Amino acid sequence: MAWLKSGDEKSTRWVKEQIEILNRKGWYHSIQLPDGRVIEGVQSIDHLKQRLARFPVPEDLRGKRVLDVGAWDGWFSFEMERRGAEVVAVDCIDVEKFRIAHELLGSKVDYRILDVDELCPATVGRFDIVLFFGVLYHLRHPLLALERICQLTREMALVESFVIDDGLEPGPYMMEFYETDELGGQTDNWYGPTTACLLALCRSAGFARVELGEVVKQRAHVTCYRHWEPPPANPSCPPPVLNAAANNRDWSNRFPKNKDLYVCCFFNTKEQVTKESLRIELDGYGVPALTATSLGGDGWQANFWLPSGLDPGRHEVRVRTVNSHFSNPVEIEVIPAVNSPLPF
Ligand SMILES: C[S@@+](CC[C@H](N)C(=O)[O-])C[C@H]1O[C@@H](n2cnc3c(N)ncnc32)[C@H](O)[C@@H]1O
Repeated sequence: MAWLKSGDEKSTRWVKEQIEILNRKGWYHSIQLPDGRVIEGVQSIDHLKQRLARFPVPEDLRGKRVLDVGAWDGWFSFEMERRGAEVVAVDCIDVEKFRIAHELLGSKVDYRILDVDELCPATVGRFDIVLFFGVLYHLRHPLLALERICQLTREMALVESFVIDDGLEPGPYMMEFYETDELGGQTDNWYGPTTACLLALCRSAGFARVELGEVVKQRAHVTCYRHWEPPPANPSCPPPVLNAAANNRDWSNRFPKNKDLYVCCFFNTKEQVTKESLRIELDGYGVPALTATSLGGDGWQANFWLPSGLDPGRHEVRVRTVNSHFSNPVEIEVIPAVNSPLPF
């Protein structure tokens, strides 16, 4: 049962109460200081630990680079640092409490004031793990934001988001749009997706595998992986033979950066293929197949959406199935944007 609902007085009252508690406490995240004292925020240390425990984050993060998007007071950033990671924390506003905690903890977290829309490998680099907690529904362009998160991710992105259901139904794929203050009387909420829609958005942004964890009080916990599971140790089928990868407009292997293009892969395999059984890779990252169509005999076509943000130059496509190893590689070429001032 949804308890936070659009246009609902009880929901608006509840949000108002939460804001009053926040104003009283001053801090949203609790922070434990080196001498053991705790700055008490709205969210207790136990609660924050529980939120993080819903994702598969290793205890030892030495050698990993982690990005915390929308860090607020920074508990998640500091926890990633405590586990050994090199951490970049970003927020669209300069949060004084973050800076106080940073100082008190003697933290080396690199704090940047940036909007999600400003995040790209050129501004912040790439990360093994990206935390994207409690931000998506505050954004006007959620799919674009997830595409950016995908571009920055080498291993996995952890997405925690408000959803309008309890996650128990497989559909529908739908988002509520909040034009003004319909949700909880706040003007910084733009969208409320169903859980199924949130998962679909994460897949569509370019992640290979998207796994739903718990949905707790309309917060969905989604782990988005850039890589497929490892190929089978003893494959039961030979690898497909990849003949070509072409764009869907002029059938060449050239892809202008700013065009919304699909990559059509033409390959041969004796297996009966479905889009779910295909494992396509682009530059070593998994990308989800949108279609898998028999062309007769052992000929097949599978299409995938060309992920945004690829650098101009040559990129390598390979195809396997759940039962095989990878095919031979085939190159496509991303060429600079044409007819557009947009940088993506
Ligand atoms: C609901 S809080 C979530 C804080 C923390 N990630 C958590 O889950 O506990 C949303 C955070 O995202 C930040 N934020 C909102 N819109 C943003 C944007 N466009 N770019 C970067 N940060 C944003 C807010 O300033 C705030 O710190």
